Amino acid sequence: MAVFVTRRIPAEGLRVLSQAGGFRVQQWDSEEPVPRAELLAGVAGKQGLLCLLSDRIDREVLDAAGGLSTMSVGFDHLALDEIKKRGVRVGYTPDVLTDATAELSVALLLSACRRLPEAVEQVKNGGWTTWKPLWMCGYGLSDSTVGIIGLGRIGQAVARRLKPFGVKKFLYTGSGPKPESGAEFEAEFVSLTRLAEESDFVVVTCALTPATQGMCNKDFFTRMKKTSVFVNTSRGSVVNQEDLYNALAHGQIAAAGLDVTTPEPLPTDHPLLSLKNCVILPHIGSATYATRSTMAVLAAKNLLAGLRGEAMPHELLL
Ligand code: GLV
Ligand code: GLV
Repeated sequence: MAVFVTRRIPAEGLRVLSQAGGFRVQQWDSEEPVPRAELLAGVAGKQGLLCLLSDRIDREVLDAAGGLSTMSVGFDHLALDEIKKRGVRVGYTPDVLTDATAELSVALLLSACRRLPEAVEQVKNGGWTTWKPLWMCGYGLSDSTVGIIGLGRIGQAVARRLKPFGVKKFLYTGSGPKPESGAEFEAEFVSLTRLAEESDFVVVTCALTPATQGMCNKDFFTRMKKTSVFVNTSRGSVVNQEDLYNALAHGQIAAAGLDVTTPEPLPTDHPLLSLKNCVILPHIGSATYATRSTMAVLAAKNLLAGLRGEAMPHELLL
């Protein structure tokens, strides 16, 4: 059998495929995304495809591909309706990136609320003249209310890490109450509106679906407190970026931290990048050496299991 891998991935993942026996591996061996034509040519005649979140897996690709495995927890780049219709089995990589992504979410939250990139810049450009009581002040987590949009694996791991900072109350919203998930933090299930109005920090960790697309919009940001901080480590399209820009530019909210944007990469002249109170990272939630290696291995194991008709370690259940 033959499989196509759409990018250079950690060697441990490729090794799983090359050592499996009976599998021929073809790889787009580059750090840059595979061009569309190369992707289509690459999958043609292969039984399996190992892809990334930056590859759009639509009908045309599916026409050529057999088994499918994505090295990501997100699945909004996959044409799910089509996949379901065709009965294609899909592997993905939840759990193994939960800790790394939660850690990055906390780092981004602290960077935004305590204005770290702005402060570092002041040290470098001579803006730091003396210790000033009113200078570079931000907002801390003590006695705060944190609202989590999507209390799934990553959302819970974020709450678990934030609790020791002295958070007073956790709120969450999503498709419905999750009493078992919320119990550990005494988190209260509320409407999106209440979450916006009562949170000092909003952290978005939900999946991008038709229901969450554009969910954080003008109405949402207008309801948020002027002193509140917004953090998104899920997918850029959960946010209406123009509305977020206006909220940040006009002081409707205090700051934002984004690990995800629309599009990715964000053009370097994008208005959001002109704002001091917006910290933007290049989608690095899962970027630790260990996590990326584990993701690659899991993605490879999912693919092999799918091709062999065995149970995948992590199959996306549609
Ligand atoms: C990262 O965003 C992922 O979906 O794995
Ligand atoms: C801060 O450095 C303080 O001494 O208050």
